[in-house]
Amino acid sequence: MNTHGLEAKPLNVSDIRKDFPIFSQPDGKSLYFLDSAASSQKPLQVLNAMDNYYCTTHANVHRGVYRLAEQATELYESARGKIGRFIGAPNPSREIIFTKNATESINLLSNSLSRGTLKRGDVVVLTEMEHHANLVPWLIAKEQLGIEIRYIMVDENGYLNLDNIDEVLRNAKILSITLASNVLGTINPVSQLAELAHKNGAIVIGDGAQFVPHVATNVTALGVDFLAFTGHKMLGPTGIGILWGKSALLDSLPPFMGGGDMITDVTLDGFSPNELPWKFEAGTPPIAEAIGLGAAIDYLENLGMDRIREHELELLSYGIEMLESNFGENITIHGPRNINDRGGVISFDFKDIHPHDISQILDQSGVCVRAGHHCAKPLMRHLGVAATARASFHIYNEQSDIDALIDALAKAQAFFG
Ligand code: ALA
Repeated sequence: MNTHGLEAKPLNVSDIRKDFPIFSQPDGKSLYFLDSAASSQKPLQVLNAMDNYYCTTHANVHRGVYRLAEQATELYESARGKIGRFIGAPNPSREIIFTKNATESINLLSNSLSRGTLKRGDVVVLTEMEHHANLVPWLIAKEQLGIEIRYIMVDENGYLNLDNIDEVLRNAKILSITLASNVLGTINPVSQLAELAHKNGAIVIGDGAQFVPHVATNVTALGVDFLAFTGHKMLGPTGIGILWGKSALLDSLPPFMGGGDMITDVTLDGFSPNELPWKFEAGTPPIAEAIGLGAAIDYLENLGMDRIREHELELLSYGIEMLESNFGENITIHGPRNINDRGGVISFDFKDIHPHDISQILDQSGVCVRAGHHCAKPLMRHLGVAATARASFHIYNEQSDIDALIDALAKAQAFFG
């Protein structure tokens, strides 16, 4: 069902795949790409938008008063508008900040918040399932400032344990939380937690890296104050991330990096910062990448985020059923049993076979999955494993990718068995 309560028309995956050159491998071999949670593939529409920009319109932005520079600026700023509208930002032209990736977006916040807002002993609340991108910046702030970090822990079913949530959030200054786990897939009840955190006077930061590319997103409905995400997991290029924030909060923060474009004036004694959003965009920005991300958003919107979510739920359901029916007790799948509470990732352990060995054997059949700690070492400790194998989906995946995964896993089992 889509948000209007109507049945969404299924995605036409074979048509979609024609837009992705990566699936026509020069050696003619099939590619079963199940690692979009690490980085998604790119459609021609994104590649052409970037190519076209470099071939016809490239000049630096916000600097030249000649026609080409104005056109480049116009393309760059219009990408900002598209991205803002995609996440329901009330005021895209001030609130969307281009960064390098979601990691940089969170570092921008932890750094700027550490210069005035946060003081020794202040409480920052995170969860046990955070990616290192939403852990290490706060651990640095702990080292530098002496803040206290509290954690919402994960229960045995892969959900956040909210039993003592009032205690955990008491007097918190910041709640910074992933919208969807890159390992468990768990989609967290962020709007509910944001409401509780706001009652405690905390600022709420959402890490949307694994959510925004897959689920229709509205920052107002989520109730967050800031949202970090990245372009390369949502069909866009690498090197472009987004920080959305409420303008009043962004206005109150000091700049992150210093340099060109982020000032209105500089003297030998000091500087005055620029208006939003440029106050946070020091140096020549990733212009082609912003334009590419704008094209990726056009592509996603054209398909419809509700249809994309439906498609991924079907793959999730088929994938979990196939893994369990084929490998029974030899396989452990992590995360919630209810697929409606999950994003499109399936992390699993295969009895007695190391995830890296699994990934290498699968590669021989053209099946790409990620193996490792997924930049979530505390969560790995909670699960009692050093690593997992992880299959993850996007719009170009279909049941045949999962069938290939199952066949290749059977080969791995036979090889190591
Ligand atoms: N954060 C990315 C992942 O989960 C790289 O694979």
